Amino acid sequence: MKIFESPGVPGLKIRFFLLNLSCCLIIISCNNKDYQKVPEENKMTLQDSIQHGEYLVKTIGCHDCHSPKTMTERGPQEIPELALSGYLADDSIPPLSVEAMKNGWVLMNDQLTAFAGPWGISYSSNITSDDTGIGTWNMERWKTAIRKGKLKGDNNGRMILPPMPWQNFAKLTDEDLESIFKYLKSTKPVKNAVPAPVSPVKLDSLKTV
Ligand code: HEC
Repeated sequence: MKIFESPGVPGLKIRFFLLNLSCCLIIISCNNKDYQKVPEENKMTLQDSIQHGEYLVKTIGCHDCHSPKTMTERGPQEIPELALSGYLADDSIPPLSVEAMKNGWVLMNDQLTAFAGPWGISYSSNITSDDTGIGTWNMERWKTAIRKGKLKGDNNGRMILPPMPWQNFAKLTDEDLESIFKYLKSTKPVKNAVPAPVSPVKLDSLKTV
C-alpha cells in the first residue's frame, strides 16, 4: 500500500503502521459482539438475578399465556398455586370452530393456554421448576430455546410454535435471559405434563362446530 512507502523517513513508516493498527483495533472492538457482557465486578448476585428475573417474567407477560386461569366477569384471573404450569393436562379444549379459522380467525381458550391457528393447536408449556417443566434444563438449553426457538433447547428438535413470541425474547440481553432462567428455576414446582401439539392436518377431525 502506498502509505507505507515514505522513502527517506523510516520513523514515518512505523507511525503509519501504528496508526493503521489502532484503526483496525478500534474497528474490531466496535464490532465486538460481547458488548452485552457485564464486567465481572458488576455481575449480580444470585438473589439479585432471581429478583430481576421475577420482575421481567411478571412484566413481559409470560403469565399471560403460561399460567392457568379462571374466567371471571372482569376477565381471566391467574390461579396463583398453578402459576406458569401451562395448559393443564386434565383440561379439555372448547368446541373448535374450523369455519371461523377458515375465515382467518385464530382461536384461544378462556385460560389463554391453548391456541388454534394455521399451525394446528399449541398448548402453553409448563415452565415451572418441576421436571415436567424446565427443572432438568441447564442454561445452555435455555438459551438455545429462547435465542433459536428450539423446543426444549434441543438444536435438532422442532421449532417452538406460535404464539410463543421467542423471536422477541431472543433480543433480550444475556443478563436478562439468565435472570429469567434463574427465577424460573426458583419457582414452586408444579407437576403438569402438557399435551403435544395437534398437527394442522388433524384440525378437521376435531371439528365440532
Ligand atoms: C402469547 C403467548 C405466550 C407468551 C406471552 C409466552 N409464551 Fe412461552 N410458549 C407459548 C406456547 C403456546 C408455547 C408452546 C409452543 C409449542 O408447543 O411449540 C410456549 C413455549 C415456551 C417455551 C418452550 C418450552 C419447551 O418445553 O421447550 C419456553 C421456554 C417458554 N415458552 C418460555 C416463556 C417465557 C419465559 C415467557 C415470558 C418471557 C413466555 N414464554 C411468554 C406461549 C407464550
